[in-house]
Amino acid sequence: MRIVVAISGASGASLGLRALEWMPESIERYAIISDHARVVLEKEQALSPVLPKGVTLLDDRDISAGPASGSYRLDGMLLAPCSMNSLAKIACGVADTLSTRAAAVMIKEQRRLVLAPREMPLDAIALENMLKLARLGVVIAPPMVGYYAAIDSLEKLERFIVGRWLDQLGISHDLFRRWR
Ligand SMILES: Cc1cc2nc3c(=O)[nH]c(=O)nc-3n(C[C@H](O)[C@H](O)[C@H](O)COP(=O)(O)O)c2cc1C
Repeated sequence: MRIVVAISGASGASLGLRALEWMPESIERYAIISDHARVVLEKEQALSPVLPKGVTLLDDRDISAGPASGSYRLDGMLLAPCSMNSLAKIACGVADTLSTRAAAVMIKEQRRLVLAPREMPLDAIALENMLKLARLGVVIAPPMVGYYAAIDSLEKLERFIVGRWLDQLGISHDLFRRWR
């Protein structure tokens, strides 16, 4: 299985890194990190992105990389967190970076695309963009809490959110306690 995780400049950019870290190592994993995601990681958490072992970093400015083409085999893409900027671009078909181009390819090829929009509150522009994409088959999965998962720490919350994204990508995991 080959998966791309793109990280854009919304709050909680480290969640995208967590998703890469908590995916089984058997998955061929690629990361795309936008310039603004790097700014957010630095400003919010004083982090410069360190990728988990086995993950290949793709340059967001390299629109000749594999995921930019529909003939490149890709099983799924997660954009987490997804800024309102990236959301708007994808909803309008703007593909001027590798991450937005890869998302456009996933849509045209009708492959699994999971977006995790992060903003609060949400305005009508963002809601319309999400509705438009949901109608095209894109999974809109914002980082939201599920209190049924007995969450009592930030790590458990992150495991729950990442686990729900992996569910949407069809990836088996044991990241949180499921509802029985
Ligand atoms: C610390 C910080 C936090 C931000 N949080 C958000 C956010 O939660 N949601 C959002 O849509 N934009 C947020 N932004 C603004 C985006 O980074 C900005 O719109 C940027 O153009 C997004 O670019 P990208 O989509 O190419 O990554 C934040 C910016 C900074 C500096």
